[in-house]
Amino acid sequence: MMPQGQIPEGKTERLILRTLSIDDAAQIQELFPHWEIVRYLRNVIQWPYPADGALQFIRDFALPAIVRGDEWIWALRLKSEPERVIGVINLRRGPHDNRGFWLGLAWQGQGLMSEACVWANDFWFETLGFTVLRVAKAVANTTSRRISEGQGMRLIGNEERDYVCGRLPTEIWEITDEEWRAWKNRKTDNRQT
Ligand SMILES: CC(C)(COP(=O)(O)OP(=O)(O)OC[C@H]1O[C@@H](n2cnc3c(N)ncnc32)[C@H](O)[C@@H]1OP(=O)(O)O)[C@@H](O)C(=O)NCCC(=O)NCCS
Repeated sequence: MMPQGQIPEGKTERLILRTLSIDDAAQIQELFPHWEIVRYLRNVIQWPYPADGALQFIRDFALPAIVRGDEWIWALRLKSEPERVIGVINLRRGPHDNRGFWLGLAWQGQGLMSEACVWANDFWFETLGFTVLRVAKAVANTTSRRISEGQGMRLIGNEERDYVCGRLPTEIWEITDEEWRAWKNRKTDNRQT
């Protein structure tokens, strides 16, 4: 297990995952408050987004949660442009809502979040040692649901939740550590054949 509050940097083929820092606030303030990004996020997000929303989020919520050891939060950057933040992915301890993510509009649709999720899932199961990962998604959020479907998760329930855009039917998805390892092995086998 990782010591509490310590988060290593991640690397994937195209991405660097670096622990969220207060220095990322200005870039996130530019990237995040767009309707297409926030509409299917939980309505804990203030909308319209305040001028210091990113700073408030990082300073008052994200960094304390990291220090408590309740969350692991990374700003995503492209290896080709490491000074620029392009999105965020987080992992959260608890019985549900263990992973969340968003990506700036200009970088969507290139498979980048799928790539980040593989790294984050590995971290969740192999480094942190959790045995199940559970997430909730608005049924209307096709793109996000495809990440769950495509990465071996199982649909385990339906409920309604309140999002920035209103109350919506929601799916709960889950994957266990063994299922994750099996999915990764299948993927490696497919690449080799
Ligand atoms: C969800 C989000 C992070 C996806 O990031 P992304 O890097 O664009 O996703 P990917 O390119 O990895 O694509 C994921 C899947 O969705 C599919 N997809 C991409 N854009 C799509 C679209 N507009 N409509 C339907 N499917 C789409 C991709 O083909 C891929 O599926 P596949 O692996 O079966 O081909 C991004 O859309 C986003 O930031 N959305 C707003 C925030 C949000 O909703 N977060 C999740 C809350 S649960």
